[in-house]
Amino acid sequence: MADARELLDAGERLGLEELRTLQLERLRASLRHAYEQVPFYRESFDKAGIRPEDCRSLEDLARFPCTTKADLRENYPFGMFAVPRERIRRLHASSGTTGRPTVVGYTENDLSMWADMVARSIRAAGGRPGDVVHVAYGYGLFTGGLGAHYGAERLGCTVVPASGGMTARQVQLIQDLEPAVIMVTPSYMLTLLDEFERQGVDPRTTSLRVGIFGAEPWTEQMRREIEERFAIDAVDIYGLSEVVGPGVAQECVETKDGLTVWEDHFYPEVIDPVTGEVLPEGERGELVFTSLTKEAMPIIRYRTRDLSRLLPGTARVFRRMEKISGRSDDLVILRGVNLFPTQIEEIVLRTPGVAPHFQLRLTRTGRMDSLTVRAEARAGATSEVREAAARSIVTAVKNGIGVSVDVEIVEPESLERSVGKIRRIVDLRPRDTGQG
Ligand code: DLL
Repeated sequence: MADARELLDAGERLGLEELRTLQLERLRASLRHAYEQVPFYRESFDKAGIRPEDCRSLEDLARFPCTTKADLRENYPFGMFAVPRERIRRLHASSGTTGRPTVVGYTENDLSMWADMVARSIRAAGGRPGDVVHVAYGYGLFTGGLGAHYGAERLGCTVVPASGGMTARQVQLIQDLEPAVIMVTPSYMLTLLDEFERQGVDPRTTSLRVGIFGAEPWTEQMRREIEERFAIDAVDIYGLSEVVGPGVAQECVETKDGLTVWEDHFYPEVIDPVTGEVLPEGERGELVFTSLTKEAMPIIRYRTRDLSRLLPGTARVFRRMEKISGRSDDLVILRGVNLFPTQIEEIVLRTPGVAPHFQLRLTRTGRMDSLTVRAEARAGATSEVREAAARSIVTAVKNGIGVSVDVEIVEPESLERSVGKIRRIVDLRPRDTGQG
C-alpha cells in the first residue's frame, strides 16, 4: 500500500467533521487578520458591507468579495502584506508578462507551512524519506525550485538542486546521482527525454520511480507518454505564487484521479467566471482559493483564472480538483469556438507519426483569425505518414472541437524546447485588434 495510514501527518488524518470545524475556525481568523492588517481588505469588505464576524459558516465565505491579480498589481510591491516588512523572511515574484510583476512574501511560519505542504505532496506522490529528489524547476523568484527544494528537505530526502537548463548535464546528474523522484514541468521532462535519446541512454533504465509535474497544464495523454517512455509514475502538483507556490494540491499516486487539495490550509471554491456565483461540487468553473493559515500575505477568495471542478475525496478526506483544463488567459476563441491548448495536446499525442511537441500559431487575414497547429514529425516518419498525421489532426479538431484549423508537420527537433513553463500559443495577430 503506497500510503499506510501511519505515514500520514496530523492534518491528513482529520475526520470530515473535525476538518470542517478547523477550517471555519481558521477561516474566521484569516478574514480577521486580513481585515485588521491590510487596508485593501478593509476597504473591499467595507464596500461590500461585510465584516469578518459575519462569517459564521463556511458557506458565508461566498458573501465576501473576490481578489484578483489586478488588485495585487495595484498594491505592488508590499501593499498586500499583513505583517511588518521585517517579519518577512522571503519574497518571490511572478513574471510580469503584462505590466508590473506581483510580489509575494512569507514569514518564518509561512515558509514552514509551505515546506510541510510540499513534503506532504511528495509523500502522496510516492516519495519517501531517504529518497534522492532531483529538482529541475527553476530556482529564483519563481516559486517552483525553492518550493520543491524545502519540501523535499522537510520530508527527509536528499535534494539535487539542479534548477532548469543545461539539459545535457541534467541527464548526467540523473545517471550519476540516481534520484528516485524528479520534480519538473512536464514540458521540460520531454526536453530531457530528447536529451536521453541523443546521448544514447534508454530513459526507461534510470533510477527514477516518480515524476511530480506541474506549473503548466498537461493532459492524460501526456501522462501516458511520460510514464511509458521513462517507466515511472507521473503525478500532478498544483499551486500558484499568490496562494503559496507548489503544494496547494497534489495527485496521490495510488489513485491518480485528480489532485487532492490540502484544504486544511487552502480553502477551495469554484465560481462561474462570468457571474461570480459559487458553483455546486462537480460543476466546472474558475478555481478560487482562500488561505487559512498564512501570516505574511493572507489571500481571500483569490481568482486563479484556472478552470477545474471540485470532487469528493478518495485517497484522503480532503476534496479533489480535476486536472486543470486550461487558464482563462489561454482560451483561444476561434471564429466563435472556444479552444484550449490542452484539447490540441490530447489530439496531437494520440496521432501516430508525430512527436509530443507542438505549437499553436494564431494569425489574421482581413477579419478572419486562423490557427495553425505546428506539430513535429517523429524521427523517421515518411512523407506519407506525415501527410496522414496532418489529415488526421485536421479531422480530429474539426470533429472534436468543431472548428477548422491548418496543420503543419515540421521537421523533428525544429520546434523550440521548453526549459520551464512552455508557451504553447504564438499570437501573430496585429496587436490592437487581438481578441479582447
Ligand atoms: O507555477 C507554482 C508551481 C510550481 C506549481 C511548480 C507546480 C509546480 P506561478 O508561476 O505563480 O506558480 O503560476 C501559477 O501556473 O495559476 C496555473 O495556471 C499554472 N499551474 C500551476 N500548476 C499547474 C498544474 C507556479 N498542475 C499558475 N496544472 C497557475 C495546470 C498549473 N496548471
